[in-house]
Amino acid sequence: MDLMVASTQKLCGELGNGARFNLPGDKSLSHRAALFSALALGHSNIRNFLDSGVTRAMLRALTALGVEWSLQGTTLKVQGQGLRGLCVPEEALNCGNSATTIRLLAGALAASGIPAVLDGSAGLRKRPMERIVDPLREMGVPIQPSEQGTAPLVLSGRPPERALLSSELTLAQASAQVKTCLLLAGLAADGQTILHEPAPSRDHSERMLRAMGANVHQPDALTVILEPLQRPLTALDMDLPGDFSAAAFLMVAALITPGSEVCLNNVGLNPGRTGLLDTLLEMGADIRTETLGEQNGEPLGNLIIKHSPLHAVNVSGDRVVQMIDEFPVFAVAAAYAKGTTQVRDAQELRYKESDRISALAAQLDRLGVPVREHPDGFSIEGALQIPGGASVDCAGDHRLAMSLVVAGLATEQPVRVKNAEMINESFPEFTDVLQGMGGKVSWI
Ligand code: S3P
Repeated sequence: MDLMVASTQKLCGELGNGARFNLPGDKSLSHRAALFSALALGHSNIRNFLDSGVTRAMLRALTALGVEWSLQGTTLKVQGQGLRGLCVPEEALNCGNSATTIRLLAGALAASGIPAVLDGSAGLRKRPMERIVDPLREMGVPIQPSEQGTAPLVLSGRPPERALLSSELTLAQASAQVKTCLLLAGLAADGQTILHEPAPSRDHSERMLRAMGANVHQPDALTVILEPLQRPLTALDMDLPGDFSAAAFLMVAALITPGSEVCLNNVGLNPGRTGLLDTLLEMGADIRTETLGEQNGEPLGNLIIKHSPLHAVNVSGDRVVQMIDEFPVFAVAAAYAKGTTQVRDAQELRYKESDRISALAAQLDRLGVPVREHPDGFSIEGALQIPGGASVDCAGDHRLAMSLVVAGLATEQPVRVKNAEMINESFPEFTDVLQGMGGKVSWI
């Protein structure tokens, strides 16, 4: 299905009915809450769970592993089985398009010791898995990827009495998926698991595991130390904050659409995730944050965003990791900013749901935005007017689809985003929310 987007007068209003509207729950936290609850003992209650394509992949896998769960509205209830209580699945676990699902499950299955095969869509089969396979093997996990180092991943299991090896590992990428995979495996090790990252990635897993009774600490920003589990993880009772990565689309939409003023409530503000906010502020964005303290160990707040003239900025180094999912929509902000924006040190973008450097360059070019590709990033020549008037394709990438829709809100001519149903992978309410704010967007 395609989405048509037309130039929009202004986006306004508080989302939903009244002051306490929440965005859909955070995707990273939803994955973790579902999986970690399954590894705990007891009933978990997770409110504001994100019900979307990628989280359904995780839930389906949990069912195949014998975990009972139910979703009532957005409240997920999970009956934990304990680290060693998962059942051997009858078939390969289909992780769909979700790299978080496959990489986190690999760690959980390594800890549980059961044999299983992890697989997924054609798109997922292209994503690199050596980054988890190599360190898992160092920990003593019998795991075999395809010849290309991708899914399917075959875990052959191990006898219950054999623990995994205590390890000190230096990770090649700053990746919370890799870190979480290894922390989960480390729960079943015979001593400490020490991980060194090249840059600090999001620390949701550390926070959640600690809340569930695991002994995990961060002596500095680049090191995590986990002790093996002495007693079962305790069940979760948790409200998930709104997804900052979903909020990001609405933030940029309001910034580039003249006359807009939008308030997003209860957005997760984990500092490992808010790099886009800092970058937009540097570009001159009028965004006010009302902090609301912490909820179950995760910071959150309200964001009040007003249309603003933006200017170009350079992004590199650690900031890249803090906004790793936001580059597609950041590129849209840069396209409407005065001057040349440059992104470097972002080669990881080539290994996401699409090669986000070349896909972005190709699609923005169709809209009339001059983009230059670099091996590790891109440069964008910003302009106040962008022609639009073209069909663009999201390359099977949910974030690229939403970013192109956002771009079309302020182009001179309407934009058609092809195969936009990919949006359901992470933010099924996106078009409803945008329409509710006054955005001229419709399915055709
Ligand atoms: C995620 C980590 C990031 C991010 C992904 C979700 C997570 O991936 O891109 O959308 O939940 O841990 P990497 O860890 O591969 O950078």
